[in-house]
Amino acid sequence: MSSPCQHELIKRHAACVVWFTGLSGAGKTTLALALDDALRCRGVHTAVLDGDSLRLGLNSDLGFSPEDRATNVRRTAQVSKLMLDAGLVVIVSLISPQAESRDQARSLFNANQFFEVYLNTPLAVCEQRDPKGLYQLARGGDIAQFTGISAGYEVPANPDLVLQTHQYTISECLERLLAMLEPALKRRSVN
Ligand code: ADX
Repeated sequence: MSSPCQHELIKRHAACVVWFTGLSGAGKTTLALALDDALRCRGVHTAVLDGDSLRLGLNSDLGFSPEDRATNVRRTAQVSKLMLDAGLVVIVSLISPQAESRDQARSLFNANQFFEVYLNTPLAVCEQRDPKGLYQLARGGDIAQFTGISAGYEVPANPDLVLQTHQYTISECLERLLAMLEPALKRRSVN
């Protein structure tokens, strides 16, 4: 097994996980991709794990029952850990509605390695955005267990960052994300 010190020396930054949680339509994927771009432009080695993409492959056997969502989060957290051990900044974008599952994900990492970012966007705004037309289907009863409509979302008690995506621009959100990450990326176990 390789030493994480070597990864840090080669990559010239520490590894961490940025975990976006929030309702569908809150802007998780948009911000994950924007952060990915911004970090790569700064020479940071990144990977994005997005719920919609994971559900096409690794998690294609899962639906949206509470048990399946917990499995979705558990698997994604384990993959994040493998990627972090390879020295990457891992950007996760999952509704991850259950506090217990998110806490379990956090427990895999050291303090300062895991950043829970809560996109605190009101349901009414997400529903108005409805980028995939899913809220309309959920309201019409055509999608069961839809988060925010017919399934719950547990608001994070102690997130590392809260972003009101309906009040800030993408650039303003990015500024806050980068400010949060800057010290973590500089932290090295060796010089
Ligand atoms: S999670 O709850 O298990 O974390 P995940 O982030 O992987 O969810 O997937 C959410 C995406 O799946 C949504 O953005 C939406 O495109 C789609 N989706 C389909 N059915 C549902 C549903 N019942 N509840 C929430 N999202 C759904």
